[in-house]
Amino acid sequence: PKILFIEHNGAEHLVEGECGKSVMQTAVENVVPGILGDCGGSCSCATCHAYVDPQWLARLPPPAEDERLILDGALEVRDNSRLSCQIKLAEALDGLVLRLPERQF
Ligand code: FES
Repeated sequence: PKILFIEHNGAEHLVEGECGKSVMQTAVENVVPGILGDCGGSCSCATCHAYVDPQWLARLPPPAEDERLILDGALEVRDNSRLSCQIKLAEALDGLVLRLPERQF
């Protein structure tokens, strides 16, 4: 599945992800600036914070309790904020669009 990351400055990165991997892993492997993933995806750092395109939001499983807790610690949290390490890629997410915050900490 392809994912489009849009940086805070508008720069776009269209990358091909692998099913089963997380969005955070996909961003890090493709050197997309703006996603850090400091904790390696264990849902404890919030440096993988991203804004899910509103059209896609309802198509993702809702955040689990631990994601919501950690997300509270991210900067400029909005209604469409998610931790990208908790979004697992599947063919159904082909075309997913995420916007990246200006900074992660
Ligand atoms: Fe640390 Fe997502 S990579 S919370």
